[in-house]
Amino acid sequence: MATTTRFHQKHTSSTKIIIFLCLSTFIGIAFIATSIFHVSFSSTYLSIASNWVADVPNATAVTLPSKEEVEKNKIKRKISERFLSATFADLPAPQWNWEQLDSAPVPRLDGYAIQIQNLFYVFSGYANLDHVHSHVDVFDFNSNKWVDRFDTPKEMANSHLGIATDGRYIYIMSGQYGTQCRGPTALSFVLDTKTKKWNNLPPLPFPRYAPATQLWRGRLHVMGGSKENRHTPGLDHWSLAVKDGKALEKQWRTEIPIPRGGPHRACIVANDRLYVIGGQEGDFMAKPGSPIFKCSRRLEVVYGDVYMLDDEMKWKTLPPMPKPNSHIECAWVMVNNSIIITGGTTEKHPLTKRMMLVGEVFRFDLDSMKWSVIGRLPYRIKTTLAGFWDGWLYFTSGQRDRGPDNPQPRKVVGETWRTKLSLPS
Ligand SMILES: *[C@@H]1O[C@H](CO)[C@@H](O)[C@H](O)[C@H]1NC(C)=O
Ligand SMILES: *[C@@H]1O[C@H](CO)[C@@H](O)[C@H](O)[C@H]1NC(C)=O
Repeated sequence: MATTTRFHQKHTSSTKIIIFLCLSTFIGIAFIATSIFHVSFSSTYLSIASNWVADVPNATAVTLPSKEEVEKNKIKRKISERFLSATFADLPAPQWNWEQLDSAPVPRLDGYAIQIQNLFYVFSGYANLDHVHSHVDVFDFNSNKWVDRFDTPKEMANSHLGIATDGRYIYIMSGQYGTQCRGPTALSFVLDTKTKKWNNLPPLPFPRYAPATQLWRGRLHVMGGSKENRHTPGLDHWSLAVKDGKALEKQWRTEIPIPRGGPHRACIVANDRLYVIGGQEGDFMAKPGSPIFKCSRRLEVVYGDVYMLDDEMKWKTLPPMPKPNSHIECAWVMVNNSIIITGGTTEKHPLTKRMMLVGEVFRFDLDSMKWSVIGRLPYRIKTTLAGFWDGWLYFTSGQRDRGPDNPQPRKVVGETWRTKLSLPS
């Protein structure tokens, strides 16, 4: 309103304006601009004019805020900035002792991982935006060493995968093919971890970026994710019967859509129920016309919603995470009927609009259906890959923060850490 009034004073007499408004509140912006003010159509002007039409139906009601009010607002803003430090989103959490182990052979952002007994299979991901991996690194929790490496199929996506296992076969659905913010593929694959042989699965009906994926009651379930433009949340949910690494059907079956779409969620089966946790709506998109599909930022909404499917096959809403959290698709482990989630990304800072990483370890106790914050990672980190073996909680890889006082994302790492886990009962 203040802007509008100042605008009037600068460009014309207020009497003229009042008469004009009383006579023709609803006359179009274009007419006003060209016939009355003789100003050119700048975008600034457009936004001022449309505020004015929407907010000021009665020109006599326009008043400038008083000097005192302006001063008061300034002070208010200063105080809130001081209290809203960069790290304000961090939740109180016990410090844990972490032991650093050998780093993964390559740094990884948006990598994926599956644990089968003592072996931890770490898939693909970005080294940086202009280089993606197309191989698997294998870590052995018994020797605490990286022990193997083999290639993924040439046509397989490099990031934003859907991934699940039955304890021998690892199923990999769709995802982004290539660097930066390139297009997705619907192609899907299965790895036999005993023979290290790959096979094809029927492609998804439509490609998806980072869909929630799990194996449940003999069927692969794939839901949510982002649609083909990388940004629009998909709600679709499909399933496919599989056994011993083979599809038992030729086509994916359409299932009940998920209430909220989007990529980068944790998807877990426990006690014969399917859980989908956290995630986001929206993601970076390729800049239109960019020959390298350069990533450009778009509006993202991070959320902490928890959805569950059981016998009824109707989505139920459970208590949300202690804070919105995304990029956690392989950042979880199941321990003693609790889901443990390490790190992630939360909503952007309300003042600086910077992305903020998450450094807490969360627990969702499936006995009580209650969330708690049980510990802190050595630093804040997203798209980290978590494992649990012999009482130890492990994580490796992801994009970490800029330091204890700066939760913005910086370095893509391959660091591997572990800590003794002991859940309070
Ligand atoms: C416009 O504002 C004047 C002065 O405040 C008021 O008397 C009049 O009722 C208002 N007219 C409308 C349409 O709101
Ligand atoms: C899980 O429960 C068992 C049995 O009560 C206990 O011995 C073990 O320490 C628990 N594990 C963790 C990580 O707390």
